[in-house]
Amino acid sequence: MNNTHPAGSPVPNPLDLSGRTAVVTGASRGIGLSIALSLMTQGAHVVCLQRGPLATELAQLAAATGRTAAAFSVDLTDARSVAAAAAAVLAQHRVDILVNNAGTQIRHDAVEFPLEDFDTVMNVNTRAVFQLCQAFGAPMLERGEGKIINLASMLTFQGGFRVPAYAASKGAVAQLTKALCNEWAGRGVNVNAVAPGYIATEMNSALLADEARNEQILVRIPAGRWGNANDLAGAVLFLASDAADYIHGTVLPVDGGWLSR
Ligand SMILES: NC(=O)c1ccc[n+]([C@@H]2O[C@H](COP(=O)([O-])OP(=O)(O)OC[C@H]3O[C@@H](n4cnc5c(N)ncnc54)[C@H](OP(=O)(O)O)[C@@H]3O)[C@@H](O)[C@H]2O)c1
Repeated sequence: MNNTHPAGSPVPNPLDLSGRTAVVTGASRGIGLSIALSLMTQGAHVVCLQRGPLATELAQLAAATGRTAAAFSVDLTDARSVAAAAAAVLAQHRVDILVNNAGTQIRHDAVEFPLEDFDTVMNVNTRAVFQLCQAFGAPMLERGEGKIINLASMLTFQGGFRVPAYAASKGAVAQLTKALCNEWAGRGVNVNAVAPGYIATEMNSALLADEARNEQILVRIPAGRWGNANDLAGAVLFLASDAADYIHGTVLPVDGGWLSR
């Protein structure tokens, strides 16, 4: 929504998402599941784009709140699958919020990084994000309102180690977010990103299992702990809500202070 409240007048709960529909990619687990639960808690209906069935937690929350939750199948490595899934969702739903959460990580030494793996990471983390922004952004632009939130990373800002494809893909997410902002902000569609720090999810199981690496990471986090998936949910909720109507093209770190170190 575009803020229509005159300056100085009270704004009713700007985080309320009642009646809105949010698409969240990769809401099967981890950060995506927390985001979907948080958006639904604030009133949104949720449509999950993912490989597997709807998470039990979302089905239970939907039943308890009377909101709807649905899952549409997609393989984000495949542009045809992405196009078909987006069309299927749009045939049934008016989408107000898009959260491009799904992502993938593959680790190899750079010198021997297989191009096939490079393509997989780029296609899921960057190409599918762009494709979904196009698909869901078009009707938002027609209506003159909508919120898009992309998941960036600390590797949007840094190169990382043994993750050249992931770093390239997440750098691209920030640039894409800014590029779309420049074209769409004046047309009522907010495009922003959140950049998670080190969050304890399956994606980081290798890092969490490596005691030495884990210690190196922890010592650099001013908050003194890894994040958990729920730490991201508030930032995404904020960017998805009317409270963020005048925020465009930003990449918001949610990192326990990592980037300040
Ligand atoms: N965890 C962190 O520390 C961290 C840090 C920075 C950024 N991020 C970003 O935050 C987002 C969520 O990360 P997470 O930690 O929650 O990861 P996660 O636990 O590994 O979950 C990744 C999600 O993406 C989905 N996905 C992956 N490849 C897919 C594909 N080809 N087609 C459809 N869905 C696919 C997974 O679906 P399946 O269940 O079917 O595999 C899963 O739902 C990602 O964009 C990630 O890059 C995470």
